[in-house]
Amino acid sequence: MLIQRRRLLASALVLPAAPALSALLAPDEAQAREARPLDVPFVPTPMQVVDAMLDMAKVGKDDLLYDLGSGDGRIVIRAAQRFGCRGVGVDLNPERVREAKAAAKKAGAQIESLVRFEEGDVFTFDFSPATVVTMYLLPSVNVKLRPRILKELKPGTRIVSHDFDMGEWKAEDVRNVANSTVYRWTIMANPPANLLR
Ligand SMILES: C[S@@+](CC[C@H](N)C(=O)[O-])C[C@H]1O[C@@H](n2cnc3c(N)ncnc32)[C@H](O)[C@@H]1O
Repeated sequence: MLIQRRRLLASALVLPAAPALSALLAPDEAQAREARPLDVPFVPTPMQVVDAMLDMAKVGKDDLLYDLGSGDGRIVIRAAQRFGCRGVGVDLNPERVREAKAAAKKAGAQIESLVRFEEGDVFTFDFSPATVVTMYLLPSVNVKLRPRILKELKPGTRIVSHDFDMGEWKAEDVRNVANSTVYRWTIMANPPANLLR
């Protein structure tokens, strides 16, 4: 299962064009691609890794966590369950958003009141209110998002990414957890110009 998960995302990395990527997508994802191609297929983060991401981000009750490409909503829901913090998930695939909303409902009224899931594109969605951002995307997507992350998030906001780094922006903490790698960065006040492009 672990090997399959890594192969799935890794193969998305090396495929040159969107039509080839479609072979990796489940039927509902393929349908979503007709409106706007998914940049990353759905592969859920194992719960042990979710917990490590939340620990590395030092999530607390007063945080507002955004998961970019939120899948079935597990990171946002788990953060609300463990820390009582608010969270927002955004996913391009409406089926994933439906699943995440159903999972939040199943988690109970208190959790449901703390979390929100929206259909949207990480490249245009406003994530500037976040104090913690979580991601399990792809290296190219991380790097493409990097200028917005650095310009739009407040200094002190923590970013954690499952398995993929941010190119030239070196992580301040890197940990191996259950055959995954988790990276953490903190938004600084005056980012260097090379990271903003
Ligand atoms: C590897 S999954 C990660 C799911 C979840 N964050 C987790 O770690 O379990 C990536 C998710 O990103 C979504 N996605 C792909 N391209 C997107 C885009 N441009 N905007 C928003 N979501 C996107 C996919 O539908 C998928 O659910």
